[in-house]
Amino acid sequence: MFKIILYIIIFSVFAGGAASLYHLYNVYQKNSKELSNFEKSVAINNNLGKVLVVYYSLSGHTKNIALQIAQKTGADIYEIKTKEEYTSPSVYIESKKQLMQKKYPALKGFLPDLSAYDVVFVGGPVWWYTMAPALYSFLKAVDFKGKRVASFSTQGSNYGSFFEDFQKTAQNAKFLKSENFNNVSEKYNNQVSNKINQWINEL
Ligand SMILES: Cc1cc2nc3c(=O)[nH]c(=O)nc-3n(C[C@H](O)[C@H](O)[C@H](O)COP(=O)(O)O)c2cc1C
Repeated sequence: MFKIILYIIIFSVFAGGAASLYHLYNVYQKNSKELSNFEKSVAINNNLGKVLVVYYSLSGHTKNIALQIAQKTGADIYEIKTKEEYTSPSVYIESKKQLMQKKYPALKGFLPDLSAYDVVFVGGPVWWYTMAPALYSFLKAVDFKGKRVASFSTQGSNYGSFFEDFQKTAQNAKFLKSENFNNVSEKYNNQVSNKINQWINEL
């Protein structure tokens, strides 16, 4: 009996590992294919007016994209910060609870004054197939009346309902085209930069 249980455990571990590797391989293939569309260099043609880039980022991926957008558009930057910082690995449980209970974290510091801006980019990570709770906190606290808003996400591989949820939550915004960015290795830096340029040009 003990042997059978042991075999089942060993089989489950191997099957789980194989499934994870297969998933990673598929994501890698999908990313390479998508980014091959952005190999040609795209010149930026920015006429968006005065721009603000707002972002939330726990581990730096969204920050990286946000800083590039800001640099390319000459934007000001506002970072969303929570009063209580998440720690790993409890962030998974804590954020799931916040999302399920719709009890979003308190934010740190002042909210930005949007009055001076024509366009506001707002980005953050996908958590549990939706926006990270801090983005809900931010969107519920600001009024985008008269502002054009372009949202962006970063994620492992699946952005779920991030953009639908963004549009449902952001108040009074005029939504521009949104964009999402899978986390990829540095070897794709040029393609990611071209993707951002193309997106900005389409706004
Ligand atoms: C709590 C948590 C939940 C996540 N859920 C998803 C998800 O549903 N889909 C996905 O593709 N990636 C998911 N990720 C991965 C992040 O979206 C991804 O690493 C993101 O780029 C992190 O952004 P940051 O470095 O700016 O914090 C999750 C990460 C965390 C910490």
